[in-house]
Amino acid sequence: MNSTETKLIEMHEKSTEVYHHILMNTELGQKALDYLHDRGLTDETIKYYQIGFAPNNNVINRFLVEQKFEYQDMRKSGLFLEDDEGKLRDRFFNRIMFPIKNEFGSIIGFSGRVLNKEDSTAKYLNSPETDIFNKRDVLFNLSNAKAAIRKNDAVILFEGFMDVISAYQSGIENGIASMGTSLTNDQIKVINRHCSSVYVCYDGDAAGQNAINRALSLLGNSNLTLRVIQMPEGIDPDEYRKQFGEEKFADYMSKSIESPIAFKMRYYKLNRNLDNETDKFSYIQDVLKEVAKVDQPIERDLYINQLADQFNLNKNDLTMTMNSFIQKND
Ligand code: UTP
Ligand code: MN
Ligand code: MN
Ligand code: MN
Ligand code: MN
Repeated sequence: MNSTETKLIEMHEKSTEVYHHILMNTELGQKALDYLHDRGLTDETIKYYQIGFAPNNNVINRFLVEQKFEYQDMRKSGLFLEDDEGKLRDRFFNRIMFPIKNEFGSIIGFSGRVLNKEDSTAKYLNSPETDIFNKRDVLFNLSNAKAAIRKNDAVILFEGFMDVISAYQSGIENGIASMGTSLTNDQIKVINRHCSSVYVCYDGDAAGQNAINRALSLLGNSNLTLRVIQMPEGIDPDEYRKQFGEEKFADYMSKSIESPIAFKMRYYKLNRNLDNETDKFSYIQDVLKEVAKVDQPIERDLYINQLADQFNLNKNDLTMTMNSFIQKND
């Protein structure tokens, strides 16, 4: 690590302390703290994640100048916006601040959430790309989760920070999330270095289901073992925890695991009307293509049986069609 990078990390570590102090101990942070309490986060969780609040008073700029950080380093930190004259102002204001660490536990960026969704077009504002912050390979919570990931030989991949944090508060410590973008190959490589299984647990809304499908395709190019943890329709993991409590959430998580193909058998139905012959036919074809990718003959047989039962079709015909897809795959 060069000296600029060290400085940038130092600035992030100090800013985290300032934001956290404002949240926990000052009048300026009271509304944000109430907001987090209303969402059901405990003080223990808030401290563990060093969550903070960025007020509207340019506090980080003033603090880092006082701490004798140099202008050129401050410019490169991503913590500021620069005006025409080169004057710096805090990039983050009126936002709840979630520090983002690299896999070694150094703070390299922030994601800031507005208290009211109506107040801004961007619910979450992330740090820009800098010398130390590369969105494509950052995984939120990886440094905290390492031990649990090793122990379980698995990660749970969530959509959002709050889902990871909710899982932690519920005793599930191997959760991570990509940085508000869809999963990248760089992130998959990082995951691959730490464990052999991935449980994808995205939101139960349409966007989440589409994202699961994309993530499974991308992860399918690795040799990671894949599972889906399916949320009830319309809610995300954090909302589940908020609604039903930590214990029921953990219980739900452990009981809602399905194979990628079981996910796809559901997913491929979403925009189809199975009473319509054309839709039904293309659905069966799509599922058989997935079945053809399954290694175990017994497992393939299981899905063929399900399809045969569901659509009252001949097993041999289904098997023959499925086999034609296996040959095409080779
Ligand atoms: P969601 O809209 O599902 O947010 O986006 P969430 O995690 O449930 O957030 P809460 O519960 O409302 O606080 C999933 C993820 O997409 C990224 C964030 O990383 C978020 O966690 N995102 C979303 C952004 O980066 N910017 C946005 O404006 C919205
Ligand atoms: Mn409160
Ligand atoms: Mn979502
Ligand atoms: Mn969500
Ligand atoms: Mn949410």
